[in-house]
Amino acid sequence: MAIAIYPGSFDPITNGHQDIIDRASSIFDKVIVSVLENPRKKPLFTVEERVEMLNLIAAKYPNVEVDSFHGLLIDYAKKKNSNIVLKGLRAIADFEFEFQMALVNRKLDPHLETIFMMTSNRYSYLSSSIVKEIAFFGGDISDLVPPEVYPLIRKKLQS
Ligand code: PNS
Repeated sequence: MAIAIYPGSFDPITNGHQDIIDRASSIFDKVIVSVLENPRKKPLFTVEERVEMLNLIAAKYPNVEVDSFHGLLIDYAKKKNSNIVLKGLRAIADFEFEFQMALVNRKLDPHLETIFMMTSNRYSYLSSSIVKEIAFFGGDISDLVPPEVYPLIRKKLQS
């Protein structure tokens, strides 16, 4: 069974992430979308909030589940019986860092394969940071994030 781990910060999930989840769900037997609990980053949303938002999207797919992890990705993948890491690539700018991470992960665990999916053209400019920036200054993000999570983002920024 091909189990893919789709790791990330998802702070918050964007239409670009949703597009990757949608396409991956029809390729892999199971996709585990997993939020990194990273004490070194200062996220806007708690891990629980990000998991909640991702669950709203995952609910549409019988083979997509949501989880969170801390520590090394290779250890987490082993725990989940997966040898596939799935990453979305937007632009050439993403490539260098993603390439480095893929090689580091392969060095740490030669059995772990990183698979990249190119984002759809229409989402290539999107990132969680861009969404937060626009929302923070009162811009319209309704076209940038899934409709299910839009109210949660608005609520967070008003609190
Ligand atoms: O959405 P992001 O912030 O670009 O996701 C980055 C993530 C979570 C994929 C990456 O930081 C990660 O895998 N962290 C886990 C720690 C780890 O395994 N580090 C070694 C590989 S560089």
